[in-house]
Amino acid sequence: MYDPVERRNFYGRVHGKTLRASQKTYLEEDLDRLSLARVTRDENPERAPIDLTRFAGKPLWLEIGFGGGEHLVHMAATYPEIGIIGCEPFVNGIAMLLGKIRAANVENLAIHPGDVRDLFDVLPTASIAKAFLNYPDPWPKARHHRRRFVTEGYLTALSRTLQPGAEFRVATDIPDYVRQTLEEVPQAGFTLLNEGDQPWSDWLSTRYEQKALREGRPPHYLTFQRNA
Ligand SMILES: C[S@@+](CC[C@H](N)C(=O)[O-])C[C@H]1O[C@@H](n2cnc3c(N)ncnc32)[C@H](O)[C@@H]1O
Repeated sequence: MYDPVERRNFYGRVHGKTLRASQKTYLEEDLDRLSLARVTRDENPERAPIDLTRFAGKPLWLEIGFGGGEHLVHMAATYPEIGIIGCEPFVNGIAMLLGKIRAANVENLAIHPGDVRDLFDVLPTASIAKAFLNYPDPWPKARHHRRRFVTEGYLTALSRTLQPGAEFRVATDIPDYVRQTLEEVPQAGFTLLNEGDQPWSDWLSTRYEQKALREGRPPHYLTFQRNA
């Protein structure tokens, strides 16, 4: 069960291969400016809602676990009229994203370089108009299924931050993840709009999807709408 004051375990990787010199520079020079303030418990122990005025009232989207950031930057570049927040604790992925932001020269984007649950605590209620969950960690063992994003705790927290009618997109290559998504997301107050093997018209294939395709695991795409 999701609890904003519990001590949370994060089971994924936070560090990977040694960073290139250029990536260290991106982290040193760009990360602070692009990171949302007052998301962590150290900065905001009372867990007060954060200030989103940097987005100047634009509709706000959220990508959970952006990996190398290709989809996040693609969405920011395709839709300059929105603001998009990306969340990812894996430092190598964050460094890759920062390089892509420099190359694409996009400004309508901010980062939480950490666990999305910390961001959920402090995002204002109904502040997000669209959310993306691209290839969430699969946790294949049955005893680990409760660590999956598509469980009550995460989904309840996501649902609070979404506007009524907001779209929630999920992409996965794991059939049992599709099963659990179809079971649990509607229970958290969402309606299934679409599912199948055809991606969204504005989809950009991610690194993880390319790996899944190389290894013979076909993608599955699901679209939900948060109930009013
Ligand atoms: C399988 S990878 C997919 C990455 C990317 N979306 C893609 O499609 O290439 C899942 C990502 O989710 C991130 N992740 C896992 N738990 C998370 C959490 N609680 N908050 C934010 N990101 C998380 C992981 O660090 C990892 O980068």
